[in-house]
Amino acid sequence: MDVARLYIKLGPTWLVVGMALGIGMGMTKSFAFMPLHAHINLVGFACHTLFGLTLRQWPELARSALAVAQFWIFAISTPVMAVGLYFTLQGGVELPTILGSMGLLIGAALFCFMVWRRI
Ligand code: HEM
Repeated sequence: MDVARLYIKLGPTWLVVGMALGIGMGMTKSFAFMPLHAHINLVGFACHTLFGLTLRQWPELARSALAVAQFWIFAISTPVMAVGLYFTLQGGVELPTILGSMGLLIGAALFCFMVWRRI
């Protein structure tokens, strides 16, 4: 499983979603979803793309079961956090946001461990 390639495909996909939301906010002059926009762009686009480029630059990082687990944890936690934030920002449920955020932190910590272990 080529996790670098998957990360690099997901990054720009989130960028399109984040930009569309940004344009929507500008058109409606309603900025309640600004934190969602910022997180989609920074966690969705920036983190996925940087993870993918890092794995491409140091392919030895990607050749482990840990890298596959890290990918799924981070890739699944991103939409969980984003959908959760959508509801939380309107005063709704918080649990999906909390679970998604914890998943992202675990994914980031695993990536940090992978980098320190192999580079
Ligand atoms: C089509 C492209 C984009 C549009 C139309 C757009 C639009 C917006 C708008 C309207 C705001 C709210 C500004 C305010 O109320 O002060 C905002 C905030 C923000 N955007 Fe974007 N954006 C775009 C792309 C991006 C990208 C690519 C990133 C990051 C990679 C990004 C990161 C942020 C962040 C972090 C904030 C919050 C800034 C703050 O807290 O002051 N945006 N954007």
